[in-house]
Amino acid sequence: MTYNKIFNGDCLDLFSNIPDNTIDMCFADPPFNLNKKYNSYHDNMDVKQYLDWCSLWINEMVRVTKPSGSIFLHNIPRWLTHYSQILNEVAFFRHWIAWDAPTAPMGKSLQPGHYGVLFYTKKEKKSKIYELRAPHKRDRKTGRLQKDYGGKKDLLHPFGPLLSDVWTDIHRIRHNSKRDPHPCQLPIHLLERIILLSTDENDVVLDPFLGTGTTALAAKRLGRKYVGFELDEEYAVIATQKLEAENYQSCIGKYWVSVYRDETVTIRDKDWLGLSSFFEIPKPIRNIETIKISLNEKFLHETLNCNC
Ligand SMILES: C[S@@+](CC[C@H](N)C(=O)[O-])C[C@H]1O[C@@H](n2cnc3c(N)ncnc32)[C@H](O)[C@@H]1O
Repeated sequence: MTYNKIFNGDCLDLFSNIPDNTIDMCFADPPFNLNKKYNSYHDNMDVKQYLDWCSLWINEMVRVTKPSGSIFLHNIPRWLTHYSQILNEVAFFRHWIAWDAPTAPMGKSLQPGHYGVLFYTKKEKKSKIYELRAPHKRDRKTGRLQKDYGGKKDLLHPFGPLLSDVWTDIHRIRHNSKRDPHPCQLPIHLLERIILLSTDENDVVLDPFLGTGTTALAAKRLGRKYVGFELDEEYAVIATQKLEAENYQSCIGKYWVSVYRDETVTIRDKDWLGLSSFFEIPKPIRNIETIKISLNEKFLHETLNCNC
C-alpha cells in the first residue's frame, strides 16, 4: 500500500486497492448534494441515488479502518441522520460533534447554525481516543476570560478546558483570497483537531473526498501518513503541489499541537505536563485572566519549530 500520495479517480474504484483493516482514521467530507459547482462532479443526484451511493463509500470506509480506528463523516444534519443509520449497523457511535458555522438565512425554518461531524469507532473497545484541550476564551484586547467562573477560578486548568462536542472556535475560511479554487474547502485546524483526537504519530489517515488536500496537509503537519482520493484532476494536482511544498511541523518541543494565527488551539490533555514548561503559566492562579498564554507561545513557535 502506497502512503503519502493523492490518487486521482473515483473513490469507489480506489477503495478496492486498500486492504481491510489497514487505516487508522478515515475522514470524509463528501459532496452535500446541494448543487455546488465543482469542476467535475455534478452535485445534484436524486435523494435515493445519493443515499445509495453514500452507503457504498461509507461501508468501504469502515472496511478499511483498523479495529482500533475511527471514522468521521462531515455533512449537514439532514444527511448525517441517514449516515448514522448505516454506521450503527457496522460501527460504534461515539459523538455527534456540532461545528458551529453560521450559514446564510434559508427560508422560514430555524437557521442552520452548525455542520455535524459524526464520530464512530470501528469497535466498541480498545479504540484510540484522546482527550483534548482548547484554550480559555479571552477578550482579544485585554486577555480577560470571557466566561465568569465566579469563585471557581482557582480550579481552572491553566491552558483551557477539556474539549466538548460543540466546537465554536474553528472558523470557516471566509476570504476568497485565502481559498483554493474549490467551492468548499475546510479549515486545516478542524482536521488537525480530529487527527489529534483519534491518531498517533505515523498512523495512517485516509480521505476519499480530498478536495484540494486539507486532510492530507493536516496529517503531514502532525507527522501522520496520509492517503487521499479525489475525482477532479485539477483539485488533485493542487493538493499534491501543496503537500510537496509543505514542510511545517505543528509541534511544540516533542508534542504535536494545532495552531491557528500563532495561538495553540488544540493540545492533548496527556501532553500538558510536558507542554506546560513552554507556556507562561499565570501565578498566582487568581490572576489567570490578566495574562495571555499565547503571548509567550508565538516566541516559542518561532524558536522551537521544530525537532519532533
Ligand atoms: C466537499 S468537497 C471536499 C473538500 C475538502 N474537504 C477540502 O477541504 O478541500 C468534496 C470533494 O469530493 C470530490 N468527489 C466527488 N465525487 C467523488 C468521487 N466519486 N470520488 C472521489 N472524489 C469525489 C469533489 O470533486 C470534491 O472535491
